[in-house]
Amino acid sequence: MKRIAIFASGSGSNAENLVKHFEENDHAEVAQIFCNNPKAGVIDRARKLGIRFLVFNNEELNSGFLLEKLKSAKIDLIVLAGFLKKIPTSIIEAYENRIVNIHPALLPDYGGEGMYGIHVHREVVENEEEETGITIHYVSEEYDEGEIIFQESVEIDFEDTPEDVQYKVQQLEYKHFPEVVEYILKDFD
Ligand code: GAR
Repeated sequence: MKRIAIFASGSGSNAENLVKHFEENDHAEVAQIFCNNPKAGVIDRARKLGIRFLVFNNEELNSGFLLEKLKSAKIDLIVLAGFLKKIPTSIIEAYENRIVNIHPALLPDYGGEGMYGIHVHREVVENEEEETGITIHYVSEEYDEGEIIFQESVEIDFEDTPEDVQYKVQQLEYKHFPEVVEYILKDFD
């Protein structure tokens, strides 16, 4: 059984969707959720889903403490699902090509520090884009710059608000993220 760790900072709707998806899977499971924000909705979801979770602070993220936790939990793949902190080099090196992120836009557009959640959709609407989408990519040392694994786009109607765009993007996330994670895990020995 491959063991997935989810890192999340917010509401955790993607985390919940991934947990539920892998409950039906014989080859992989979500072993633990890691969260940097003690007030995040994802913690409540983890409790309800009966998934182990760990809340950590900045110092624990960067000092090697978290890496030790990942190793002792025998984590094979780290999935960032609305995780807003930078992953330290030590974890990137230990999990080379084993950390993936989902971004709610078509990278390389609308990426980088500070571009997350509704902020992305506000800019997309402000710029009167005709389409947006999701990008699933490997995580490198720079925000949103690792190798792209999968993208899917969706049309934006001229009357769409940032919230409408967010809704459309979320539907793409819920549909494709679990499938893509499953596909990535197929190549793991
Ligand atoms: C998702 O839309 C995800 O793509 C985005 O945060 C949201 C988290 O929602 N991630 C980023 O913006 C990363 N730059 P959730 O907590 O309900 O899964």
